[in-house]
Amino acid sequence: MLLQIVLDAGFLLIKGSKLQNKRHFMRMGDWKITCNSSEGINSAYEQHFPSLVESAKKSAESLKSLGVSLGWIDWASAWLHVTTETLLQRIYTCHLPQRLPLPVLTDFTCIITGATSGIGLETAKQLAEVGAHVVLACRNTKVAQALVHDWQKEREHYSGPLDVEVMELNLLSLSSVRAFAAAWEARQGPLHVLINNAGIFSMSAPQKFSEDGLEEHMQVNHLAPALLTLLLLPSLSRGAPSRVVNVNSDMQAFGVVDPNDLNLNSGRRKYSSTAAYSGSKLAQIYFSSVLETKLPNDCGIHVICVNPGIVKTNVTRTLPKFVQAVYNLVGFFSLSSLEGARSVLFCSTDPQVLEYAEALRAEGWPVCPYYSSDCKPNPTSKHAQNVGMAFKLWDKTREIIGLNNEDVDKLLDGATTSTPCLKESFFSTYDDE
Ligand SMILES: NC(=O)c1ccc[n+]([C@@H]2O[C@H](COP(=O)([O-])OP(=O)(O)OC[C@H]3O[C@@H](n4cnc5c(N)ncnc54)[C@H](OP(=O)(O)O)[C@@H]3O)[C@@H](O)[C@H]2O)c1
Repeated sequence: MLLQIVLDAGFLLIKGSKLQNKRHFMRMGDWKITCNSSEGINSAYEQHFPSLVESAKKSAESLKSLGVSLGWIDWASAWLHVTTETLLQRIYTCHLPQRLPLPVLTDFTCIITGATSGIGLETAKQLAEVGAHVVLACRNTKVAQALVHDWQKEREHYSGPLDVEVMELNLLSLSSVRAFAAAWEARQGPLHVLINNAGIFSMSAPQKFSEDGLEEHMQVNHLAPALLTLLLLPSLSRGAPSRVVNVNSDMQAFGVVDPNDLNLNSGRRKYSSTAAYSGSKLAQIYFSSVLETKLPNDCGIHVICVNPGIVKTNVTRTLPKFVQAVYNLVGFFSLSSLEGARSVLFCSTDPQVLEYAEALRAEGWPVCPYYSSDCKPNPTSKHAQNVGMAFKLWDKTREIIGLNNEDVDKLLDGATTSTPCLKESFFSTYDDE
């Protein structure tokens, strides 16, 4: 506790330092340019993210050169990136309030997966508190119901109850995903945001397969959310302007995806929970990027990936107790769930995010918007910009989740025309600070 206070004080001091100002300025510069208009977005990117532009241009060659393994330079730079982000994330995010201010969200429906713990719980609660209709899509419905009961009790002294409901969804079962989507779609209502938050990182646990015969990280973190997203496109279309927010991770930088070995059991690569987790997060970016380019220009639906930062949650539950204790000791570098939910809430509600996505799509940008824990867009890893690999993964994903091209085309066609209405950002006050 004392250490935490000392460190917090240190961060406040550093807040005014050159290092922080430089980083903040760089990021603000990118943000302002990308948000002002779609004009010149490529040149803005070329100026600020030359490596991203270069690598997008060379995607065809990179498909050949990247292959399905991570070179040691990519591996070292991923380590450097993740370590720096971890150590400095409190500095990078210190311009944000601890709790993100949200607008009143009446007539706003969102589905959030994995809302019984960590980032998902905090995100769901805050959305409900500002009036949204929130659907907790959870495998443990008893825990979810108990949570809702507690939230409603807390609200007893406020004007009215929260508009929250619980629906069963187990991402380890593709038939559960289909049942959930069918039940939801039967209502024929609008959906404004789908937050694919649920995820697993079974650190130090042995490799496991689901009832569908799929490696569990790949299924929970990528394949099942991909199926859910496609099946809910009609609702998202009814709710347009709408968005899919995928809670991703900077660990995607370590990711390697072999579309012919998504189960990591062909013997070509050795299984580790890190390889499985980072690969599943990279696969999610590939899938999101292709979906973002396939969605009709005027459908008003966008797909966004967001890294919430390193957040102290139940994600370490599979680690031995003493490792968890060490993890908690270095907890002062981690964000709280409240802080980790900020970027997810920002991506789910701020009109600037849709404007930014709209501008990227207008330019034919091949990679989906990727946001960081500081609520700013950031380039993904070099591997994540491999367009050829993204399309291969898309095809493989479609095959595994049991949708053929015609099924997907029908769902994409269902994402019918609607004009996005972009309101002024309620978050702009923080950009201008
Ligand atoms: N914490 C971090 O540092 C961090 C960093 C980067 C990215 N992320 C990402 O953030 C997201 C949220 O993670 P968290 O840190 O908040 O973890 P968490 O506290 O462990 O919460 C994960 C949630 O996902 C749910 N879930 C797991 N397997 C599921 C399944 N088969 N079907 C339905 N729901 C399932 C869990 O439900 P149960 O309680 O029923 O298991 C829980 O509600 C994940 O996608 C994670 O990869 C986290």
